[in-house]
Amino acid sequence: MQLPHERGPVSRHVIESLRSDRPGAAFFALGPDDVIGDEDVQLALWTIYELHYRGFHGVDDDREWDLGLLTLRREIESRFESELRAVTRELVTGVPQHGDLGQQLLDLVAADDGPSLAAFLQRRASIEQLRDFLRERSVQQLKESDPQSFVLPRLDGRAKAALAELQYDEYGGGRPERLHATLYADALSAAGLDATYGAYIDHVTGVSLTLCNVVSMFGLNRRLRGASMGHLAAFEASSSVPSRKIAGGLERVGLPPAVAAYFHEHVEADAVHEHVASSDICGTMVAEDPGLRDDVLFGAAACLHLDALSGAELLERWTTGLEKAS
Ligand SMILES: [Fe+2]
Ligand SMILES: [Fe+2]
Repeated sequence: MQLPHERGPVSRHVIESLRSDRPGAAFFALGPDDVIGDEDVQLALWTIYELHYRGFHGVDDDREWDLGLLTLRREIESRFESELRAVTRELVTGVPQHGDLGQQLLDLVAADDGPSLAAFLQRRASIEQLRDFLRERSVQQLKESDPQSFVLPRLDGRAKAALAELQYDEYGGGRPERLHATLYADALSAAGLDATYGAYIDHVTGVSLTLCNVVSMFGLNRRLRGASMGHLAAFEASSSVPSRKIAGGLERVGLPPAVAAYFHEHVEADAVHEHVASSDICGTMVAEDPGLRDDVLFGAAACLHLDALSGAELLERWTTGLEKAS
C-alpha cells in the first residue's frame, strides 16, 4: 500500500517522517480540540497503526518500532481513550453492578437508539449511496477481525478457546475464499469498486478512520483487552439484523448477488457470534477477573457511540444531497 495523503499537520508529520528515513519527532504537541472527530489526528493514528498490519510500500518494516512515532501514538491514544471514556461514562455506569454480563451486553445493544443507517440503506438509499457505504466501511472490513487477533495471546482457557472459534469463522473456517475480508473484497469488486487493501484511505471520512482506529487501539494495548472484547460483543450483536437490511437494500437497487453475499453471511454467523462474544468470551473474562467488567462495558459503549456518530454523518451527507437534488 502507498502512504496516504496528509490531512493536516499531525498526519503530515507522520507521513513525511515515514517517507524519509528520519525517525519521527518524539514530542509533537497536539492541538486542544477533541481527537475523536479530528480527521488529521485519526489519519496520523491510522498510519502509525498500519505499520503493525501490512506496512507501506517503500517504508522499512522496522519503522513499526520507531520510538518517536510510538510516543506520538501514545499521546494520541491517551486523548482518544479519555474522550471515549467521557462520552460513554453514563452508559457504562447505568448498567447494574450485578447480573449476567453477557445478557447485559446484549441488552445494551438492544436499547441503543442510534440512527438507523441500515434501515435507510434497506429502503431509500440510491445505488451510489450504497456504493459510498461500501467504500466507507472498506477501511475496516478489508482487515476484518485482524485487530482482535492481537488479543488471543492475552487470554486463556474458555475465553481464548471461544475467541479462537469465532476468529476461525471470521477467517473462513480453513477456506481462504471464505475469509470475511475476502468476501468483502469480492463485494467491492462486484459493486464496481476497487478491492485493493487501502484503496480508499484518501476518500473515507475521519469518522470511518476513527471506527477503524478504536479496534486497533483496543487490540494493540493489552491493558485494554477487556474493552477490545466488549467492543467485539457489541459489534457482533449489532450486526445480524442490520446485515439482513443492508443485503435487502443492495438487492433492491440491483447490485450483483456477490455484493449482498457478504451481508447474508453475517445474518447467520453474527447471530451465533454475538452469544460467543458476549457470554463465552466477555462473561468468562469477567467471571475470572471482575476488574475487567467496566472495561468490557466501556468497549461495548464505545462501539455503539462511534457507530451512531458514523451513521449520523453518512445519513446527513446523503439526505442533504437528496434535498439538494430535489
Ligand atoms: Fe465477519
Ligand atoms: Fe462475526
